[in-house]
Amino acid sequence: MDPFLGVRASHTYRFFIILSPVGVYYSEGFNPVKIWVTKDHVRAVRGGIGEAKTPGNYAASLYAGEKAHKNGYTQVLWLDGIEQKYIEEVGSMNIFFVIDDELITPVLNGSILPGITRDSVIALAKTWDIKVSERKISIDEVLEASVSGKLQEIFGSGTAAVISPVGEIKYGDQIISIGDGSVGPVANRFFQTLTDIQYGKSEDPMGWIEPV
Ligand SMILES: Cc1ncc(COP(=O)(O)O)c(C=O)c1O
Repeated sequence: MDPFLGVRASHTYRFFIILSPVGVYYSEGFNPVKIWVTKDHVRAVRGGIGEAKTPGNYAASLYAGEKAHKNGYTQVLWLDGIEQKYIEEVGSMNIFFVIDDELITPVLNGSILPGITRDSVIALAKTWDIKVSERKISIDEVLEASVSGKLQEIFGSGTAAVISPVGEIKYGDQIISIGDGSVGPVANRFFQTLTDIQYGKSEDPMGWIEPV
């Protein structure tokens, strides 16, 4: 709010929250989307602002997102900014894989945004006795899991879409199809449980709901 034009942090701020109803995040609705892996662009690096919910965080992702759209893909799968080998996020969501009955999400490393939905999925999975791993996962590991038939599901997590199943990934000339084109059981269970808690349709076993 400083009456000043220049490149420095402001000394005065106005904090406000805008509330509005939201529709479905992707035109596909709660259906598997197609994802494009880019090696030409990176979203974030450690030490940058990729792990913060700040507008500048999104700027670096928009051009690659447009390229994905032009190629018929809904969003970009981001690889790490150093080796472009390890998976970080999908679009502006965190990402989960179900491989051989294990739920895997990239470990927070300073360039991945620590989403609240990511946290919620991990917390629920632990109460469901699903094996959960927060660790590095490379695009090669996902390709190998697909070839060996161990790749069961991929989905994104974020406040807007809640859970967004991934049905196809394009990496260079390779196309990975996940499942049979329908929403997988794990993604479906997280989506239903989270939205039922949000809408008060089911008990809130985690104590997440705050009456206002
Ligand atoms: C880059 C990025 N990753 C992940 C997320 C998901 O975070 P959350 O679950 O808190 O909405 C967001 C949401 O804004 C995001 O911008």
